[in-house]
Amino acid sequence: MSTSSKATSGRLWDKGGSLDALVDRFTVGDDYLLDQRLATADCLATLAHAEMLCRVELVSAEELAELQAALGSALQDIAAGSFAIQPEDEDVHTALERYLTRRTAAGEKVHTGRSRNDQVMAALRLYGREAVLAVQADALELAGRLCALAERYPELPMPGRTHLQPAMPSSVALWAQAFCEELLDDVQILDGARRLTDRSPLGSAAGYGVPLPLDRELVAQRLGFDGVHHNVLAASNGRGKIEAVTLDALEQLALTLSRLAQDLMLFSLKELGYVSLPAELCTGSSIMPQKRNPDALELVRAKTATVHGYASAVKGVLRAMPSGYQRDLQETKRPYLLGLAEVALMVRVMTATVSGLQINDAALRAGMTPEVMATDRAYQLVLEGVPFRQAYRQVAEELRGGDLSAGWAAAGARVSPGAAENLELASTARQVATAIKQVAARREQIAEALSALAGSPVSVLGASWPTAAVAPAG
Ligand code: ARG
Repeated sequence: MSTSSKATSGRLWDKGGSLDALVDRFTVGDDYLLDQRLATADCLATLAHAEMLCRVELVSAEELAELQAALGSALQDIAAGSFAIQPEDEDVHTALERYLTRRTAAGEKVHTGRSRNDQVMAALRLYGREAVLAVQADALELAGRLCALAERYPELPMPGRTHLQPAMPSSVALWAQAFCEELLDDVQILDGARRLTDRSPLGSAAGYGVPLPLDRELVAQRLGFDGVHHNVLAASNGRGKIEAVTLDALEQLALTLSRLAQDLMLFSLKELGYVSLPAELCTGSSIMPQKRNPDALELVRAKTATVHGYASAVKGVLRAMPSGYQRDLQETKRPYLLGLAEVALMVRVMTATVSGLQINDAALRAGMTPEVMATDRAYQLVLEGVPFRQAYRQVAEELRGGDLSAGWAAAGARVSPGAAENLELASTARQVATAIKQVAARREQIAEALSALAGSPVSVLGASWPTAAVAPAG
């Protein structure tokens, strides 16, 4: 491979030398494509940084006004899909600095007191915070649908299974509320990741701060962060770690979704028929005319493994990372951004599935065969004074002999627990939703600042959220 081609002219770090074209392509990779989704966040962070530079008198009021106007037009271009990041830009941060510099000489000042890693971290945290909050809200929506399902069928029995074999009486309500409760746990796990994300790294630069009187608190406040990530080296080393924690939390949510999907695939088997999946969510086969396949649920199951891979990939990169910035960290961006989007889509697929689920009353009742009642029957005997092990053997005998006396009917009449826990779940859901809303209040100022600059509503996540494809939409 030739090493003569040059590919560095116009780089932020261009000092007149040249870079081999292969190394250039290799180091840029698809970062410039992924960065499309960070463009709004980078504008926002640049706006707050410029305002702070003005406050500490490193940028004049006129220069700030020019920068604000140029950022406003960048936001409009981003919204219109016409803000291009070229491979020669390397990343959105370079593209934006160039964009600003083409419009105002003050563009040459916006990098004062920042490193690109600072910018990457700030943009990723702004984006990640929004994405996690969106996923939390969607997961709460799904939990709500499951709760509603339980309320609609408080008494409808369902065979409970262990080892996939009929085990004990359960109910639609018990099953649906189980997933509701697990989702609430996942939302709270995600909140731990959200809190770590919700700190401003700006001012950390390449991990060692800068010799300027930057006002880090002001920037954090302007960006609606909960506070400053204080130690500059810890902030810098937080790159990758926050991504890993978030992906681990997303994986927990994905695991819940995957198991919910798995249950629904089993329950909708022709042979069981407890539920029917919404026809519009099932796909067909190119060869077998009768097929209605749960491809979406299968992909939820498979993508849970992908999300695990993303979390592992990030932790793998971090494992041997010395302190301070290294380019390895770029490799954590893709799994992070794709993991967020993938899980957001998975939650929505499961919400659509649960919302359109048909519950088949007769099949569920028919599934409540005597064997499902065997343990209940044994406990009935225990309550009559028979030692448990004797009761156990007696029930096994009764089942073998097909001698299902009146006692069995009574055992079968029990409705499994479930419905009573509704109230408690609803209050947990409310608490979580309130906590999320409180964070939302802090972010409103950002939405307002962005929208005021752009002249129309702008969101950090952008119109294509959630999209798991690498090529930018639009
Ligand atoms: N795309 C790079 C990343 O995500 C940007 C920072 C590059 N900085 C550097 N010193 N080469 O890490």
